[in-house]
Amino acid sequence: YLAMSIIADDNDFEKPKIEKKNPVVKPEAVDCDKNFENCIRPKSFDTYIGQSALKDTLKITIKAAQKREKPLDHLLFYGPPGLGKTTLAGVIAQEMGVEIKITSAPALERPRDIIGILMSLQGGEILFIDEIHRLNKVAEEILYPAMEDFYLDMTTGKSQTVKTLRVPLPKFTLIGATTKAGELSGPLRDRFGIIHRLEFYTDEELAQVIKRTAGILEIEIDEKGALAIARRSRGTPRIANRLVKRVSDYALVKHDGKITEDIANKSLDILKIDEFGLDTTDRCLLKLIIEKYEGGPVGIETIAAAIGEDVRTLEDVCEPFLLQAGLLQRTPRGRKVSPAGYRHLGYKTGKFDTNQQTLF
Ligand code: ADE
Repeated sequence: YLAMSIIADDNDFEKPKIEKKNPVVKPEAVDCDKNFENCIRPKSFDTYIGQSALKDTLKITIKAAQKREKPLDHLLFYGPPGLGKTTLAGVIAQEMGVEIKITSAPALERPRDIIGILMSLQGGEILFIDEIHRLNKVAEEILYPAMEDFYLDMTTGKSQTVKTLRVPLPKFTLIGATTKAGELSGPLRDRFGIIHRLEFYTDEELAQVIKRTAGILEIEIDEKGALAIARRSRGTPRIANRLVKRVSDYALVKHDGKITEDIANKSLDILKIDEFGLDTTDRCLLKLIIEKYEGGPVGIETIAAAIGEDVRTLEDVCEPFLLQAGLLQRTPRGRKVSPAGYRHLGYKTGKFDTNQQTLF
């Protein structure tokens, strides 16, 4: 916080350029074939399925802000990937009737990136920063006064000719999203007025998401077909939506194009997605811990090296669902497969014994 003044070279200040890395993506009319995720994103609370407790709180917060004619407090969404953090930010902007500028922390590497975006904001607008836990220290310190009192402190020139300038900013709302709330620095976390966790979806909610997506893509699907895909989507709409497309391909090539329970199950079996929604990587991870490390505990770096995945993918993508499903446990000494994990992979006992036959 002591770095209220940011050392920006002259160039930074005069031309807060953002075009080099294009850190801002403006949501606009999209072509479904090119940008599938944006095309099926719900735009309002009425079409956004799931996260009902969060939606109720947000509706009240939005109404209060509108009554006061003030921007929303800064919001932080956290939770596993694919649960709709970006989508929800878009819905909030739409409901508030304001523009949203979308960027992500890795695109804000240089001071000029974040300064440029902040200076491009209009009053009331929303700035969405994805993966906010990856923001560097300099960018974070530029954000502190911007979030708290809506100004930038900038220093231009070199040593003896140095000048400090306080630049006012319009009142804006920052929405941050992260898969790792624990990695956010305390001072940054404290500047968010509202902090919410997004939950995994139930099978019934996912079936609704699937039917909605199928409707937009003009794919025929029945209730049981939607539930069959939902059950193997790991509580995650992003996965459910991806699977609808894959299953639809199968339905079209092997049958009449309609997704039924039988077609969904056959197609997902071929894709090697099991009845819990685990894919080959998930099963490989559990199997490795059981067979090579007696069920654990074993460090995540060791697992990543052994199965050829990077640690971040395992931590951010694979683990959250395995932990939530109770198949994997996190201990201070590393990861452990739970008894349910053993059973799921077809091992009879809690400890692997080399005479056992696995189902995989
Ligand atoms: N697609 C992705 N997430 C969704 C949601 N929460 N509701 C409706 N469609 C979605």
